[in-house]
Amino acid sequence: MSTITFRRPDDWHVHLRDGAMLQAVLPFTARVFARAIIMPNLVPPVTTAAAAAAYRDRILAALPAGLGFTPLMTAYLTDDSDANEIEQGHRAGVFTAVKLYPAGATTNSALGVTDIAKTYPALERLQALGIPLLVHGEVIDSEVDIFDREAVFIERVLAPLMRRLPQLRLVLEHITTKEAVDFVGGAGPGLAATITAHHLLINRNALFAGGLRPHMYCLPVAKREKHRLALRRAATSGNAKFFLGTDTAPHPIPDKERDFGCAGIFTAPAALEIYAQVFAEEGALDRLEAFASLNGPRFYGLPVNEQRITLAHRPWRVPDEIPTEAGPLRPFLAGEEIGWRIEG
Ligand code: DOR
Ligand code: ZN
Repeated sequence: MSTITFRRPDDWHVHLRDGAMLQAVLPFTARVFARAIIMPNLVPPVTTAAAAAAYRDRILAALPAGLGFTPLMTAYLTDDSDANEIEQGHRAGVFTAVKLYPAGATTNSALGVTDIAKTYPALERLQALGIPLLVHGEVIDSEVDIFDREAVFIERVLAPLMRRLPQLRLVLEHITTKEAVDFVGGAGPGLAATITAHHLLINRNALFAGGLRPHMYCLPVAKREKHRLALRRAATSGNAKFFLGTDTAPHPIPDKERDFGCAGIFTAPAALEIYAQVFAEEGALDRLEAFASLNGPRFYGLPVNEQRITLAHRPWRVPDEIPTEAGPLRPFLAGEEIGWRIEG
């Protein structure tokens, strides 16, 4: 098969940032994806409906002419999130979902949740209204090995939360472990997961291959090979619980290549193409549409896209560097060849 045409996909996990960076990175997402779930970890975080509506306006204003793209906004959950604010924002059509960052787990998560019990009133309201909670699933306990933080989160936080609020709709974001694949696969239909392109390609060796590799660093960090293989099986299985979320997360090169360098991999310039390559390698191109274009809308209760996209097996090279007004960016797989490209 040298070309494949399917419904236009959506990206269920994107960091678009703001200002000059938003302007620079938005076209890479909007060229491909019809809709995207927009992460709220700005500085300050997007906690109110007014802030989310204003951010949505800035995204739409930054959109290149002629590109149809719908940003789906999220609320950043804090210890004292107001359930009424979330409900009103949802009823006003602003909030599609709510994002839970454990405080300190990742970029701009300092104002995240310190103790999940503090958010029960808000989470009970989400459950009652059917609003999905999107979860960064890592414990922040520094005693827990960083490679175990997702599995431990499932055991210590997610499973008890699901027992307490069994009807809460949940997406475990950017899963990186076999434990997460098995847990999500074994749970009821209210729990789904997104899988990034980079976690399908790299294992933790990539962080150290030939030297320290900051552009391979993201959170949750890539795990052992057996976990990468479990993610590939899940993504290409056709199981409706797994869908596309790139977690594309741009940081200027100087912020990646310093001490305390930022976590985040900028995959938007080649994301769908990488997924296509993975599905081709797994002999599962016929299931790419389910993963990229059907399973996500089904979980979110949204219509599927009517437009089509075509990918062809025609190699191209990812740019080494992308200059922007917000500083230079290094895309994932910079300088490397990818087998699939978008034809239209
Ligand atoms: O690697 C990451 N980068 N993981 C996250 O959870 C946040 C993201 C970012 O905002 O840069
Ligand atoms: Zn993210």
